[in-house]
Amino acid sequence: MKKKDYEIDDNIIRTWSTYIPKEAISEVIKTLRSKWINTGKKEKELRGIAAKKWSFPYCVAVNNCTAALRSSLAILGVGPGDEVISTPYTFIATNTAILEQGAKPVFADIKYDDLNIDPKSIEKNITKKTKAIMIVHYGGNPCDLDELRKIGVKHNLPIIEDAAHALGSMYKGKYIGSTGELVCFSLQVVKIINSGDGGLISTSKKRYYQKLKKIIWYGIDREEKKTSLLDPLPDSFKGDVLGFKYNMNDIIASLALAGVNNYDAPARKRRIIGESYRKELAKCRGLRLMKYYDDRKPNYQIFPAHVEDRLKFARYMKAHNIQVNINNRRNDIYPMFGGLRKDLPVLAKADKDVVLLPMHADLTEGQVDYIIQKVRDACK
Ligand SMILES: Cc1ncc(COP(=O)(O)O)c(C=O)c1O
Repeated sequence: MKKKDYEIDDNIIRTWSTYIPKEAISEVIKTLRSKWINTGKKEKELRGIAAKKWSFPYCVAVNNCTAALRSSLAILGVGPGDEVISTPYTFIATNTAILEQGAKPVFADIKYDDLNIDPKSIEKNITKKTKAIMIVHYGGNPCDLDELRKIGVKHNLPIIEDAAHALGSMYKGKYIGSTGELVCFSLQVVKIINSGDGGLISTSKKRYYQKLKKIIWYGIDREEKKTSLLDPLPDSFKGDVLGFKYNMNDIIASLALAGVNNYDAPARKRRIIGESYRKELAKCRGLRLMKYYDDRKPNYQIFPAHVEDRLKFARYMKAHNIQVNINNRRNDIYPMFGGLRKDLPVLAKADKDVVLLPMHADLTEGQVDYIIQKVRDACK
């Protein structure tokens, strides 16, 4: 029977894959055998090793990146009546986190060349109600942080970086998360490393770190001293701040730790694939690559490109056993975000022509060559 357009074969070359290093399995077993599976030694070790590897000044672990974003907004005091300038070209989690806090995402336009938020459009959307700026390093291709931070300083607005895609990416020789007020990473299944679900927050501000530690666990700082024989909570807990249940447990931390310790191999693989695509597809008619700026290093979490007739392209690729798809639609098509915006022309254009080529650590050299050949054929 002929498959429907959206049905795909199991043996197709996928856009995504889940990377699980061998060590992850033995690490999880060790943790299970230890019988301490709650947030504990492994979670602490994970934060220490991640902070060392990517130069995070302070690091907090949470159960997913959406929780990281919401916690970041919460410690900034973002709430009902506030606006947060954000990108509409992202997975909806970036903006549902703003809604969860009772605030309103106000969408700025994006840049066609890298799909990141357009700093000029941010400035146009600032009002008295603006409380923060939310940016996404789309696909792991970093935003121009210097330009964004200039705007933040000028208008006295904090910047939250949704770095769900950007673990290990670099801006001007520094890792994403090694600078920045609040930088949120995802360890969800298709990310460069994953723990099933998980998230990290890096912050350069000690006072944010202290607040984050509490807000992710009911307002309690688990590292603080407890002197009562019977009261289970630390002496410092006053119960005056409403916190969440967003902590990462040690089973998840063991998986994440194995991922961090084995990051270099999948990261290298993605870099090789990304560089091959860029070199071999640069002159393809009907396909336009993202711009990768010389002062930035992407981690190639995903590989988006602009393609003139993307449905025709996707069907051609599928007919040749290659899956191409998209990561997200423009978020303002969903009524919860307040209705379709007619004044975001770049977004409107990109929403119609972006596709993702397969990008993951399980692709073989032969498959990459085959994908390149088929993309070239499709774009003839
Ligand atoms: C840009 C962006 N932000 C946030 C998220 C949410 O991440 P998580 O699933 O870890 O909550 C995702 C998920 O893929 C994402 O792509």
